[in-house]
Amino acid sequence: MEKRVPVLFLCLAWMMLVVASPMVSANAEGEALNNFKLKLQDPKNTLESWDPALDSPCTWFHVTCNKENSVTRVDLGNAGLAGELVPELGQLKNLTYLELYGNKLSGKIPSALGNLMNLQSLDLYMNNINGLIPDTLGELKQLQFLRLNNNSLSGLIPTSLTGISGLKVLDLSNNFLSGRVPYDGSFSQFTPISFNNNSNLCGPIIGKPCPGSPPFSPPPPFGPTSSPDNESSIRPGRNSNAVIAIGVAVGAALLFAVPVFGFAYWRRRKPHEFFFDVPVYISSAEDDSELKLGQLKRFSLRELQVATDGLATRTSWEEVDLARCIRDAC
Ligand SMILES: *[C@@H]1O[C@H](CO)[C@@H](O)[C@H](O)[C@H]1NC(C)=O
Ligand SMILES: *[C@@H]1O[C@H](CO)[C@@H](O)[C@H](O)[C@H]1NC(C)=O
Ligand SMILES: *[C@@H]1O[C@H](CO)[C@@H](O)[C@H](O)[C@H]1NC(C)=O
Ligand SMILES: *[C@@H]1O[C@H](CO)[C@@H](O)[C@H](O)[C@H]1NC(C)=O
Repeated sequence: MEKRVPVLFLCLAWMMLVVASPMVSANAEGEALNNFKLKLQDPKNTLESWDPALDSPCTWFHVTCNKENSVTRVDLGNAGLAGELVPELGQLKNLTYLELYGNKLSGKIPSALGNLMNLQSLDLYMNNINGLIPDTLGELKQLQFLRLNNNSLSGLIPTSLTGISGLKVLDLSNNFLSGRVPYDGSFSQFTPISFNNNSNLCGPIIGKPCPGSPPFSPPPPFGPTSSPDNESSIRPGRNSNAVIAIGVAVGAALLFAVPVFGFAYWRRRKPHEFFFDVPVYISSAEDDSELKLGQLKRFSLRELQVATDGLATRTSWEEVDLARCIRDAC
């Protein structure tokens, strides 16, 4: 008796696994997404169509699948969602776009998101996500867009991210990140804008030496050949850039200013040489009766000012408006 019970139990468990597993795998992606839905508050009913009873999530709104009914996109930007990300999202192996920006998501970024080997875009910006950026995100070798800005992320920026060779856009601004900003690999193309307004970042990209370590050590791969400890050897590049920038700005300003001042000066000196082509009927028509209506006559600015001053007493509103218009242009 004592021996048969566990055997029977094991047989039953095995049978249940065999029967159940094809069902689970058939809609594993739907279940993963439904697990996410269960963790969310959805005041706008954005996820109303997410019915776990359906065969696949491919008919759900905001979900896109490939021809093999595997999820490739989840588009839930600005959807009013609150709640947390779940590790199950890491099961969507064919996911290319995960767009969850502009919600009220909180909690941490699950390290399981590093399993999304096809992910090209991870947009979690403008949420309340906190905690660390997981090291595992460095495994997202297809990633091109990583925007985690405007959250409450803290800690270090993982060096693993520099190994994502195709990374085109990185935005980690407006968080509470601190420590050394990696500057090699794909990070060599990024500027301080990507890291703006964090707690306490340092390193060559930021232009601020990290405390407790030799400034800017080791040297950037493309930097001038110099000792790693020589801070001033990194500065000339920045300084000459600044000089060029100032030079260009001053040049542009001069380019603009010279014609403007020149024109103003010329205008002051020769006020009477402005002429307007004016339809005849707004001049004092009696004097120029030989001109037909619709013909143009050339008047100097001064003549027009004198002529239109008298027009205010006329009854025709069109004439008065025209007169005003001409005066304003002067
Ligand atoms: C990803 O898609 C391929 C076909 O495009 C499919 O064979 C594979 O099962 C999918 N992966 C998952 C986890 O669904
Ligand atoms: C992020 O936050 C900053 C500062 O609060 C704000 O100026 C900026 O507009 C925000 N960015 C986005 C994309 O909302
Ligand atoms: C800096 O980022 C924090 C966190 O997102 C934000 O609350 C704050 O408004 C930002 N400050 C400025 C000046 O942009
Ligand atoms: C640092 O760089 C400056 C200017 O490039 C040079 O004169 C100086 O000898 C360097 N110092 C060291 C320790 O390499």
